[in-house]
Amino acid sequence: MFGKQLGLAVVSLLALHQNLALAQTIVVDGETLPADEVTIAPAEEAVEIPESTTLFPEEVAQLTDSVLANLTELELSNISLFSFDDEEDDENSILEKRTLFGPCKTYPGDLLYPGKLSWDVFKLLLGGRLIKTVPFASVCYDDFGNFDQARCNFISANWINNSYIHIEDPTSINAVLFEGGNCLPQALDPTATNCRVGGLPSYVVDARNVAQVQLAVNFARNLNLRLVVKNTGHDFGAKSTGAGSLSIWTHNFRKVQFFQNHRADGGYRGPAFKVGAGVPAFELYEAAHRHGVTVVGGEGATVGVMGGYILGGGHSPLSGLYGMASDSVLSFEVVLANGRFVTASATKNPDLFWALRGGGGSTYGVVTSVTVKAYPKIHVSTLTFELMTTPTVTADQFWAAIRAFFEGFVEYAVDNANYEYFRLTAMGPGAFYFDMGPWFAPGMTSDELRVLVAPLFARFDAIGVDYSPVFRDFDNYRDAWAASFPLEPWGSNFIRQASRLFPRANWEDEAKLNATFDAIKSTVEEGNYVIAFNIHAAPAAGYPDTAVNSAWRDTVMHCIAAAMWDPAAPEPVIKAASDTLTFDWMQRWRDVSPGAGAYMSESDYIEPDFTQAFWGTKYPRALQLKKKYDPRDVFYAQNAVGSEFWEMSENILGNLPSQNSRLCRKN
Ligand SMILES: Cc1cc2nc3c(=O)[nH]c(=O)nc-3n(C[C@H](O)[C@H](O)[C@H](O)COP(=O)(O)OP(=O)(O)OC[C@H]3O[C@@H](n4cnc5c(N)ncnc54)[C@H](O)[C@@H]3O)c2cc1C
Ligand SMILES: *[C@@H]1O[C@H](CO)[C@@H](O)[C@H](O)[C@H]1NC(C)=O
Ligand SMILES: *[C@@H]1O[C@H](CO)[C@@H](O)[C@H](O)[C@H]1NC(C)=O
Ligand SMILES: *[C@@H]1O[C@H](CO)[C@@H](O)[C@H](O)[C@H]1NC(C)=O
Ligand SMILES: *[C@@H]1O[C@H](CO)[C@@H](O)[C@H](O)[C@H]1NC(C)=O
Repeated sequence: MFGKQLGLAVVSLLALHQNLALAQTIVVDGETLPADEVTIAPAEEAVEIPESTTLFPEEVAQLTDSVLANLTELELSNISLFSFDDEEDDENSILEKRTLFGPCKTYPGDLLYPGKLSWDVFKLLLGGRLIKTVPFASVCYDDFGNFDQARCNFISANWINNSYIHIEDPTSINAVLFEGGNCLPQALDPTATNCRVGGLPSYVVDARNVAQVQLAVNFARNLNLRLVVKNTGHDFGAKSTGAGSLSIWTHNFRKVQFFQNHRADGGYRGPAFKVGAGVPAFELYEAAHRHGVTVVGGEGATVGVMGGYILGGGHSPLSGLYGMASDSVLSFEVVLANGRFVTASATKNPDLFWALRGGGGSTYGVVTSVTVKAYPKIHVSTLTFELMTTPTVTADQFWAAIRAFFEGFVEYAVDNANYEYFRLTAMGPGAFYFDMGPWFAPGMTSDELRVLVAPLFARFDAIGVDYSPVFRDFDNYRDAWAASFPLEPWGSNFIRQASRLFPRANWEDEAKLNATFDAIKSTVEEGNYVIAFNIHAAPAAGYPDTAVNSAWRDTVMHCIAAAMWDPAAPEPVIKAASDTLTFDWMQRWRDVSPGAGAYMSESDYIEPDFTQAFWGTKYPRALQLKKKYDPRDVFYAQNAVGSEFWEMSENILGNLPSQNSRLCRKN
């Protein structure tokens, strides 16, 4: 009876899903009903349409007023749970709605938290695409009834070195520390005795079409649930998780479509890709390679391109030529906080278009696809080398060589659009190691690169260090990228990162460069593991005005610091290591770069004055647009625009907001 009605409701939703393969069926009250599934093979290429972008089939399946009207006609109770929010809220009505629910997002166990029936109805409307969270490493424990030693062994062995396995899981995240490490394999957390959902979402919508994203946004907003968005889960700031939340998993928005002669409404004419929000870097690079073009993306193979990366700005080995990845965006398709599905481009919702480029993930809406410019195929040369202290190379010689390298930063990145990715670490008292991998020179041959670095190598020779350079040539970006960036580690509970964008001005004055160099060197001597980029993301040809951190355009070095500890150490020892990172090492970096900033997507979880650090002069407008597009704060993430008005009810190590606690508005 009830089931049949719901079945009709699902069928009514399906009526809209033209062009979709209705592949799956679900069983309700003994009846078999079709479910709205779009079958998408990963990286499958859609049919080519030469001139302009259209919606992907999964974007044609939308929740509309007439679909809701049909559901109401079927007398499906509580359909208001799924309805849009089209009220023009003034301050008073927003406050009234807030008072209705109290200061906190509704949490499991609260009186107003939806009961089983509501979740069941929701699941039916989603065509079955609702997952109750089962943590990735639960197979290592008895708590979820799925203990499996062989699978546990596999996950344990691959946890850190194989991020491919995590991006296939609906809730696995990189930033396990801030979730509380509630379900780590024993191999990573020898003290662990059980597995809990902890700071992971309670439920996940495995979204395959826009209608499902809209239903999730409406359901979360109307019920005051915490809403999170997970793509790959790579975010260092635990932005893609939260206790008691409903999560939208964008992983299966996976199409890539190429346009040889795209006509964008902002005036651009030329090659472009329309890319689903779930596409990871390796797949996009592959597609660009097949079409003989280049597309701007990051270095991590499994990191998403059209999710948190591009929304956060996105730096790239190609930034010297093409700026931030978000500078190449032509349009976004996005589900807003009110549930409506819109386009953001130079002419459609241009203020939203501004905000989505650099304003950050999980802030203004859920993006389902992005259209980006493609560039001509490009020659790339690369260089790798190592420097280290040895019985014949002293620490002084080592640091003199590093200093010589630093002195060239403006020449390499600003004048030559090069990108150098290097690491710097202490191997023991007075023993240091540096590795350059890669020095990436887009548009240059290795002969040209040799000429560029010849003065540096002459200084290395004069200082007396060994470095054994390896030069390579590639006739395309994809091959250069694949050969240069090995897969990077997934998160663990014994590391915390922070970062700083160092401005070019620090290179224009010897005293400032001395201070900058000493600030970095002193932290490495104390155990800081530095991962840094000589990069300049402000090409001479220009770049658009967007929400990207204004500090980025002056930057010549993006420098990441990492503090590590023994996870079995007593808590005060761990806390001291964690606090040293933010309040000692990073303070030295901030002191030598006053008014500069930091890159939100690779940042300190508790960056002081984060709104200034992550957006600089762009913050007031980014916040104004947050209030315009999400007046009821449907979206929240740690360190996102507008998050300064919220707090978690509990902390880890005394000052790290715990994602395994309640999210409440500050009063
Ligand atoms: C190994 C590694 C390498 C990296 N390399 C680079 C690099 O070269 N350059 C660089 O700039 N950054 C780099 N980063 C940082 C990277 O940009 C961020 O981790 C980014 O948040 C990843 O986005 P994601 O969508 O893959 O991850 P997720 O953790 O799934 O999402 C990140 C954030 O974006 C939100 N989000 C995701 N998808 C959507 C969507 N469709 N709509 C709305 N919100 C969404 C999430 O809610 C979350 O807030 C790297 C990170 C790692 C771990
Ligand atoms: C509403 O339901 C009717 C009858 O089932 C169906 O023909 C129509 O296509 C539906 N409309 C929408 C927008 O789903
Ligand atoms: C509908 O919602 C109201 C208020 O939340 C609740 O009292 C009622 O039990 C719900 N009915 C159903 C069928 O879920
Ligand atoms: C990760 O390490 C495990 C165990 O050492 C190994 O079996 C596996 O092949 C590695 N995976 C990758 C992707 O390197
Ligand atoms: C910078 O440091 C070098 C090396 O320590 C020193 O010789 C030089 O005088 C310093 N310059 C300034 C302006 O402080």
